[in-house]
Amino acid sequence: MKTQEELRRDFPLLQRRVYGRQLVYLDNAATTQLPGRVMDAMCGHMRKSNANVHRGAYCLSEESTRLLEQAREKVCGYLGAHGAGEIVFTGGTTDSVNMVARGLEPGLTEGDEIVVSSLEHHSNFVPWQQLAARRGCAFRVVPCPDGEFDMRAFEAVLGETTKVVAVASVSNLTGSVLPIAEITRKAHEKGAVVVVDGAQAVRHRPGDIRESGCDFYCFSAHKMCGCSGIGVLYGKRARMETLSPTAFGGGMVKTVTPHNTTMEELPYRLEAGTPNFIGASALGAAVDYLKETGADEIARIERALTAQLWERLGAVDGVRILGSPEKREGIVSFVVKGVHSYDIAALLDKQGVAVRSGTHCAQVALRELGAQHAVRASVAFYNTEEEIDILCRALEKSIRMLKSYGGGL
Ligand code: ALA
Repeated sequence: MKTQEELRRDFPLLQRRVYGRQLVYLDNAATTQLPGRVMDAMCGHMRKSNANVHRGAYCLSEESTRLLEQAREKVCGYLGAHGAGEIVFTGGTTDSVNMVARGLEPGLTEGDEIVVSSLEHHSNFVPWQQLAARRGCAFRVVPCPDGEFDMRAFEAVLGETTKVVAVASVSNLTGSVLPIAEITRKAHEKGAVVVVDGAQAVRHRPGDIRESGCDFYCFSAHKMCGCSGIGVLYGKRARMETLSPTAFGGGMVKTVTPHNTTMEELPYRLEAGTPNFIGASALGAAVDYLKETGADEIARIERALTAQLWERLGAVDGVRILGSPEKREGIVSFVVKGVHSYDIAALLDKQGVAVRSGTHCAQVALRELGAQHAVRASVAFYNTEEEIDILCRALEKSIRMLKSYGGGL
């Protein structure tokens, strides 16, 4: 097993300095850093095998195709999916959710119901809200008081007309872990399709799909040590078969005549156009890296860091942490009385600490938690306890500066 120092050395960017200080990177919920070998895999593909996939009968194209399909197999193994046909490459989580929403659309009619939680990121909220509006469906939002999914409220809205339940595995705002296995079981009893946003979970909860039995699972590579611009839509084979393609073009068709088109088999039927094969190579290498590091080890480190983050931030004078769910992973958001989150984040930045501020694409959840905006710190397994200490000291200093400057704001 690698020491924390050895783990950190795998990530070249972590050596960076900003404003003359050692960088402390705590915005991992927005994007994670890449191990050097993931970058090497991308560069290797570009340097040696760059060619379009599934379209050429020459060596380079075959290599490029092999690399793409190997990556699909790796993702399939990582998730415990039943076959590569269940793994569709997309542009990212948002793209994956939209693909499911649009794909399920023809099967929804007026009077059907779509259920989401109030903790959802906009990418797993707005597509369903808009779909409901287009089809005349009811759109139900399950409250999550204090960041905890309200199972009773969920049961109260679930009914024979519930057709889709869409929830996150881990909230991008509070880090709350949602009980997706129980949600799925109850939703399936009513015959509803369950779509899980795994963006904040996939790095440390690769068993989500197996354990929950959900129908669809959406995530982005750049939150699991891969690169941006590529994500995955997992779907149970039988469910995937029911999805109508939402994009049409090359690569997804078998035959085209002036009057008719027949579609390819899964997963290609849902991958119109040239896929992001370089991104796929990076994702495959990221999966290898995560597997070698070990899901249990990643989860253990991140849980310990999250507990420390929660405890240390909660002790800073004036800080209110958003939500107090029983289970929280990787993420702690907070507000400081009388101070805007942008000001805090800007002052932290000048001290070398990178965090996210604003509404976190989760305005419904923020309002429910009584905030307009928040600062968010989020850890990955390559962070250290010392970095959390640096954050908290820098935060205390920032608050002191802002209060004295603002005349006791
Ligand atoms: N979804 C990313 C976040 O929550 C961008 O920060």
